[in-house]
Amino acid sequence: MTTPASKKKFDLRKIAAICLIGSTLAFCLYFEPPSPVCPSTLAHEEYLQGVDPNEKPIVLLWFWPRGIMFDFKACFTYFNIDSCVLTANRSLYNEAQGVIFLHRDIDWYLQNMPREPRPAFQKWIWLHVESPTNTAKIPGLEHLFNLTMSYRRDSDIPVRFDLTIRKTEIKDDFVLPKKDKLVCWIVSNQILATGTAVREQYYHELSKHIKIHMFGAAFGGHPLSYEDYYSTLASCKFYLSFENSIHRDYFTEKVNGPLVAGTVPVVLGPPRENYEQFIPAEAFIHINDFPDAKSLADFLLNMNDEAYARYFEWRKFYTVDPHWQSLLVEYVRPICLACDHMSRDRGFHVVHDLYEWYFT
Ligand SMILES: *[C@@H]1O[C@H](CO)[C@@H](O)[C@H](O)[C@H]1NC(C)=O
Ligand SMILES: *[C@@H]1O[C@H](CO)[C@@H](O)[C@H](O)[C@H]1NC(C)=O
Repeated sequence: MTTPASKKKFDLRKIAAICLIGSTLAFCLYFEPPSPVCPSTLAHEEYLQGVDPNEKPIVLLWFWPRGIMFDFKACFTYFNIDSCVLTANRSLYNEAQGVIFLHRDIDWYLQNMPREPRPAFQKWIWLHVESPTNTAKIPGLEHLFNLTMSYRRDSDIPVRFDLTIRKTEIKDDFVLPKKDKLVCWIVSNQILATGTAVREQYYHELSKHIKIHMFGAAFGGHPLSYEDYYSTLASCKFYLSFENSIHRDYFTEKVNGPLVAGTVPVVLGPPRENYEQFIPAEAFIHINDFPDAKSLADFLLNMNDEAYARYFEWRKFYTVDPHWQSLLVEYVRPICLACDHMSRDRGFHVVHDLYEWYFT
């Protein structure tokens, strides 16, 4: 039974809705040529009305990551995601609800982007795993995408794969590994080539006051195999978790590795507060905690066992897993997450000025 009051309310809502649609239409018709938002918004709404929420959306992967093909079944096998139809078959372009583009594979002149017009319901997903410093500003992408995927927490689909710390009830039976080195750093050639001067300068200053054991090909250190990675980290009291570029939310396996191994990371990157949003405050040392490299060196040299042990107290409440360094996590996982996202979020999205967002 509808009471007069609720009937009135219903009518009012109906009128409001009609007015809204009417005025949007009027607004859209008024502009010649029509504002790009109007026709697609309306078309998208129309499209949504015809959508069966139980039907799996088609998500098209436009480029194979680094040209390497993989079986989309991996999404189910490794990440238990089976909520969309992933395909790399470009013939399905006109049916795909989502299309994933890897930033690093987009041609500078956008020559390898779709030639056909984009269906009104289709969302383009920007996938990028590098930091802004290592990102080419390809022209023409600013207003092209509907969803962003990156390491940033304010991405539409955040894809972090290198910090694996989480709260736990299970008691960690952690035993502090034996240490025969004070400070270590692993630097590979490749990282050094793209690195900013900040961390190299800090390293040089620090190394005047404390011995730093170098591993990796850069600076003539010993090359380190992946098998030796954790055991080497574990043998050091402190590890220099120096990021190659400094951006909010951008910290990598350089922090996760030492936490897994039972070593205290000495971080250089965004401010301490930013780290503390991801890892416990007492788990690491920030270079900004000290006025200069010499004070940091003195602090590390003079730390007693009791003070050192406090850096592992967090293990009573958290666990941390080894990070995977492979194509599987770097690209396959984000692609699976995009698939999952597309099945849950059918809404209209527009990325306004991609670079303005990404580079600030
Ligand atoms: C791609 O999709 C089209 C249309 O469904 C189909 O005819 C074709 O065989 C597919 N190609 C591959 C390589 O699967
Ligand atoms: C996707 O973004 C484009 C470019 O901003 C826009 O024209 C289109 O309407 C958007 N589509 C959806 C479904 O969000």
